[in-house]
Amino acid sequence: MNIQAKQFSFNGVDALTEKQLAEHYKIYTKYVNKTNETMNALSGQSDFGQPDNTYSTVRGLKVGEAYAFDAVKLHEYYFGNLNKQNSKCEGKVLDMINSQFGSYANFEKKFKDVAHSVRGWAVLSYDKTLKNLHICGLDAHDKGVIVDSTPLMVVDVYEHAYFMDYGQDTTTYINKVMMNVDWKVANDRLSKVVATEAAFV
Ligand SMILES: [Fe+2]
Repeated sequence: MNIQAKQFSFNGVDALTEKQLAEHYKIYTKYVNKTNETMNALSGQSDFGQPDNTYSTVRGLKVGEAYAFDAVKLHEYYFGNLNKQNSKCEGKVLDMINSQFGSYANFEKKFKDVAHSVRGWAVLSYDKTLKNLHICGLDAHDKGVIVDSTPLMVVDVYEHAYFMDYGQDTTTYINKVMMNVDWKVANDRLSKVVATEAAFV
Protein backbone atom coordinates (compact mmCIF):
# COMPACT_ATOMS: atom_id res chain seq x y z
CA MET A 1 0.00 0.00 0.00
CA ASN A 2 1.44 3.34 -1.02
CA ILE A 3 1.14 6.47 1.10
CA GLN A 4 -0.06 9.63 -0.62
CA ALA A 5 1.24 13.19 -0.24
CA LYS A 6 -1.20 15.37 1.70
CA GLN A 7 -2.23 18.80 0.47
CA PHE A 8 -1.58 21.96 2.50
CA SER A 9 -2.95 25.37 1.52
CA PHE A 10 -0.43 27.56 3.40
CA ASN A 11 -2.95 30.40 2.96
CA GLY A 12 -2.57 31.60 6.53
CA VAL A 13 1.23 31.60 6.58
CA ASP A 14 2.99 34.97 6.56
CA ALA A 15 6.38 33.91 7.93
CA LEU A 16 7.46 32.30 4.66
CA THR A 17 6.97 33.12 0.98
CA GLU A 18 4.91 31.04 -1.40
CA LYS A 19 8.09 30.15 -3.32
CA GLN A 20 9.90 28.94 -0.18
CA LEU A 21 6.91 26.85 0.87
CA ALA A 22 6.46 25.41 -2.63
CA GLU A 23 10.11 24.32 -2.77
CA HIS A 24 9.85 22.83 0.72
CA TYR A 25 6.70 20.95 -0.28
CA LYS A 26 8.63 19.38 -3.17
CA ILE A 27 11.14 18.01 -0.65
CA TYR A 28 8.26 16.49 1.31
CA THR A 29 6.86 14.78 -1.80
CA LYS A 30 10.31 13.36 -2.52
CA TYR A 31 10.22 11.67 0.90
CA VAL A 32 6.72 10.32 0.21
CA ASN A 33 8.06 8.73 -2.98
CA LYS A 34 11.17 7.37 -1.24
CA THR A 35 9.04 5.90 1.56
CA ASN A 36 6.91 4.05 -0.98
CA GLU A 37 9.97 2.96 -2.94
CA THR A 38 11.71 1.45 0.09
CA MET A 39 8.55 -0.14 1.50
CA ASN A 40 7.69 -1.67 -1.86
CA ALA A 41 11.22 -2.98 -2.29
CA LEU A 42 11.10 -4.59 1.16
CA SER A 43 7.70 -6.19 0.61
CA GLY A 44 8.27 -7.14 -3.01
CA GLN A 45 11.18 -9.51 -2.58
CA SER A 46 11.78 -12.52 -0.37
CA ASP A 47 15.56 -12.73 -0.64
CA PHE A 48 17.92 -9.76 -0.36
CA GLY A 49 21.08 -11.78 0.17
CA GLN A 50 23.03 -12.05 3.39
CA PRO A 51 21.75 -9.71 6.14
CA ASP A 52 24.41 -7.81 8.06
CA ASN A 53 24.35 -4.94 10.56
CA THR A 54 27.35 -3.18 8.99
CA TYR A 55 26.33 -3.35 5.35
CA SER A 56 23.61 -5.27 3.58
CA THR A 57 20.75 -4.60 1.20
CA VAL A 58 18.14 -5.08 3.92
CA ARG A 59 20.03 -2.75 6.27
CA GLY A 60 20.20 -0.05 3.60
CA LEU A 61 16.49 -0.34 2.88
CA LYS A 62 15.42 -0.33 6.56
CA VAL A 63 17.63 2.64 7.46
CA GLY A 64 16.37 4.48 4.38
CA GLU A 65 12.77 3.58 5.14
CA ALA A 66 12.96 5.02 8.67
CA TYR A 67 14.66 8.19 7.42
CA ALA A 68 12.12 8.81 4.67
CA PHE A 69 9.00 7.81 6.64
CA ASP A 70 9.99 9.96 9.63
CA ALA A 71 10.63 12.83 7.19
CA VAL A 72 7.12 12.43 5.79
CA LYS A 73 5.49 12.43 9.22
CA LEU A 74 7.51 15.34 10.61
CA HIS A 75 6.82 17.47 7.54
CA GLU A 76 3.10 16.72 7.83
CA TYR A 77 3.11 17.78 11.49
CA TYR A 78 5.07 20.95 10.60
CA PHE A 79 2.99 21.95 7.58
CA GLY A 80 -0.15 21.07 9.54
CA ASN A 81 0.61 23.46 12.41
CA LEU A 82 1.91 26.26 10.17
CA ASN A 83 -0.76 28.97 10.16
CA LYS A 84 -1.10 32.49 11.49
CA GLN A 85 -4.68 31.71 12.51
CA ASN A 86 -4.96 30.67 16.18
CA SER A 87 -1.38 31.80 16.78
CA LYS A 88 -2.09 32.74 20.40
CA CYS A 89 -1.35 29.73 22.55
CA GLU A 90 -4.34 28.74 24.68
CA GLY A 91 -6.43 25.81 25.87
CA LYS A 92 -5.14 22.63 27.50
CA VAL A 93 -1.72 22.99 25.87
CA LEU A 94 -1.28 26.43 27.44
CA ASP A 95 -2.46 25.08 30.81
CA MET A 96 0.17 22.35 30.65
CA ILE A 97 2.86 24.79 29.47
CA ASN A 98 2.08 27.15 32.36
CA SER A 99 2.09 24.30 34.85
CA GLN A 100 5.29 22.76 33.55
CA PHE A 101 7.35 25.75 32.42
CA GLY A 102 5.90 28.51 34.61
CA SER A 103 4.79 30.67 31.69
CA TYR A 104 4.47 30.67 27.92
CA ALA A 105 7.46 33.02 27.72
CA ASN A 106 9.63 30.54 29.62
CA PHE A 107 8.50 27.70 27.35
CA GLU A 108 9.10 29.73 24.20
CA LYS A 109 12.62 30.65 25.31
CA LYS A 110 13.44 26.96 25.93
CA PHE A 111 11.83 25.82 22.69
CA LYS A 112 13.74 28.42 20.69
CA ASP A 113 17.00 27.43 22.43
CA VAL A 114 16.39 23.82 21.35
CA ALA A 115 15.53 24.96 17.81
CA HIS A 116 18.85 26.80 17.65
CA SER A 117 20.74 23.81 19.03
CA VAL A 118 19.68 21.09 16.60
CA ARG A 119 20.09 20.59 12.86
CA GLY A 120 16.71 19.18 11.96
CA TRP A 121 13.63 19.54 14.07
CA ALA A 122 12.35 21.13 17.29
CA VAL A 123 9.28 19.32 18.56
CA LEU A 124 6.87 19.95 21.42
CA SER A 125 5.52 16.51 22.25
CA TYR A 126 3.20 14.83 24.68
CA ASP A 127 5.27 12.06 26.22
CA LYS A 128 3.27 9.03 27.31
CA THR A 129 5.82 7.96 29.92
CA LEU A 130 6.17 11.38 31.52
CA LYS A 131 2.44 12.04 30.99
CA ASN A 132 3.52 15.58 30.32
CA LEU A 133 4.97 17.82 27.66
CA HIS A 134 8.49 17.35 26.41
CA ILE A 135 10.63 19.38 24.03
CA CYS A 136 12.52 17.10 21.64
CA GLY A 137 15.45 18.10 19.45
CA LEU A 138 16.30 16.06 16.35
CA ASP A 139 19.49 16.38 14.33
CA ALA A 140 17.88 14.48 11.46
CA HIS A 141 14.49 12.96 10.66
CA ASP A 142 15.52 9.70 12.34
CA LYS A 143 18.00 10.98 14.94
CA GLY A 144 16.51 12.16 18.22
CA VAL A 145 13.06 10.61 17.93
CA ILE A 146 11.81 9.62 21.39
CA VAL A 147 9.54 6.58 21.42
CA ASP A 148 5.99 7.27 22.62
CA SER A 149 6.42 11.04 22.43
CA THR A 150 3.68 12.30 20.15
CA PRO A 151 4.33 15.60 18.36
CA LEU A 152 1.93 18.44 19.14
CA MET A 153 3.85 21.28 17.49
CA VAL A 154 6.76 20.89 15.11
CA VAL A 155 9.25 23.35 13.62
CA ASP A 156 11.54 22.38 10.76
CA VAL A 157 14.96 23.96 11.34
CA TYR A 158 16.75 22.37 8.42
CA GLU A 159 18.19 25.22 6.33
CA HIS A 160 16.03 24.11 3.39
CA ALA A 161 13.00 25.27 5.43
CA TYR A 162 14.02 28.95 5.42
CA PHE A 163 17.24 29.64 3.49
CA MET A 164 15.46 31.06 0.45
CA ASP A 165 13.66 33.64 2.63
CA TYR A 166 16.08 34.27 5.48
CA GLY A 167 19.52 33.14 4.31
CA GLN A 168 21.58 32.28 7.39
CA ASP A 169 19.36 34.32 9.73
CA THR A 170 18.04 31.37 11.69
CA THR A 171 16.98 33.59 14.58
CA THR A 172 14.54 35.64 12.50
CA TYR A 173 13.11 32.49 10.91
CA ILE A 174 12.53 30.87 14.30
CA ASN A 175 11.01 34.06 15.73
CA LYS A 176 8.70 34.47 12.73
CA VAL A 177 7.68 30.83 12.49
CA MET A 178 6.77 30.78 16.19
CA MET A 179 4.25 33.51 15.33
CA ASN A 180 2.78 31.18 12.70
CA VAL A 181 1.92 28.26 14.97
CA ASP A 182 -1.70 27.16 14.92
CA TRP A 183 -2.21 26.26 18.57
CA LYS A 184 -5.72 24.93 17.88
CA VAL A 185 -4.05 22.21 15.82
CA ALA A 186 -1.69 21.49 18.73
CA ASN A 187 -4.65 21.27 21.12
CA ASP A 188 -6.50 18.92 18.76
CA ARG A 189 -3.42 16.67 18.58
CA LEU A 190 -3.17 16.67 22.38
CA SER A 191 -6.85 15.72 22.75
CA LYS A 192 -6.39 12.81 20.35
CA VAL A 193 -3.28 11.42 22.00
CA VAL A 194 -4.74 11.70 25.51
CA ALA A 195 -7.99 10.04 24.38
CA THR A 196 -6.04 7.24 22.70
CA GLU A 197 -3.92 6.74 25.78
CA ALA A 198 -7.02 6.54 28.01
CA ALA A 199 -8.51 3.90 25.74
CA PHE A 200 -5.56 1.57 26.38
CA VAL A 201 -5.30 2.07 30.17
FE1 LIG B 1 11.95 20.11 5.68
